[in-house]
Amino acid sequence: MKAIIPAAGLGTRFLPIAKAVPKEMLPLGDKPVIHYVVEEAAAAGFDEILIILSRGKECIRQYFSPNSDLENHLEAAGKQAALETVRRVSSMARIEFAYQEKMRGLGDAVKIGREFIGSEPVFAVLLGDTVMQHSSPLPAMVAAWRSRHKPSVCLEPCPEDRVSRYGVAGGREIGRGVFELSELIEKPAAEKAPRLQSENGTPLSCHAFAARYLFTPDIFDCLEKTTVGFAGEIQLTDAMEQLRQKTGMLGVTWPGKRLDIGSPAGLIEAARALER
Ligand code: G1P
Repeated sequence: MKAIIPAAGLGTRFLPIAKAVPKEMLPLGDKPVIHYVVEEAAAAGFDEILIILSRGKECIRQYFSPNSDLENHLEAAGKQAALETVRRVSSMARIEFAYQEKMRGLGDAVKIGREFIGSEPVFAVLLGDTVMQHSSPLPAMVAAWRSRHKPSVCLEPCPEDRVSRYGVAGGREIGRGVFELSELIEKPAAEKAPRLQSENGTPLSCHAFAARYLFTPDIFDCLEKTTVGFAGEIQLTDAMEQLRQKTGMLGVTWPGKRLDIGSPAGLIEAARALER
């Protein structure tokens, strides 16, 4: 199966280091953040991957490409374990790269993958700056697709005072941890944030989009029709709302946790969480 990993953003919250080191290349233990994202995709069966970059972020490409000089050196030095570590990075998945020329938003970045995805029935989108702790939601999203034939977004509970930082969904539970969505909004004000409901109509806490998506290629037509939205950018969420109206969309919760590495403090917290 195929996946798109958008990793073109400027990483302004990580300046000045993001001038030279993309936020997706910052270390979590001995691996960069985006290594975990590719590993997660491949483990869920999405082993053909397109990573969307912007100019200046070529070291992501370098990281995933074979390095024969280094491999020859390690081989000659008899450093077998190091050699295997290095080779594993470039053999986890078949990875291609494309560039987003102008920073027009997440929706615009995903749109670049249209040709790569072609006629695949479904594909995943994993944001390149988000790591999942404990488990990936992708298997549950694939299972929801197989049983209900609808695209999905992964959801996690979000305190009301933080909904204005995320995409937020309203909808009703139709199966354990699976919601039929009725509304998708990017970064709403707290008082306008939609909520989920349980099967019997009990209101649940606010839920935000947690950086993993499973789309049908219909999303590309929706993206073509999407005009600039929040922050003057082409928002993926606005295209998802169109997709919901066309085919329906599910929200899927899972027992893991999204590690918020959107800021230096979050990155440090995530590194501690992964050690536990
Ligand atoms: C993006 C999406 C948002 C989502 C968030 C975290 O926002 O637009 O819907 O909730 O990622 O997955 P960003 O963090 O790029 O502002």
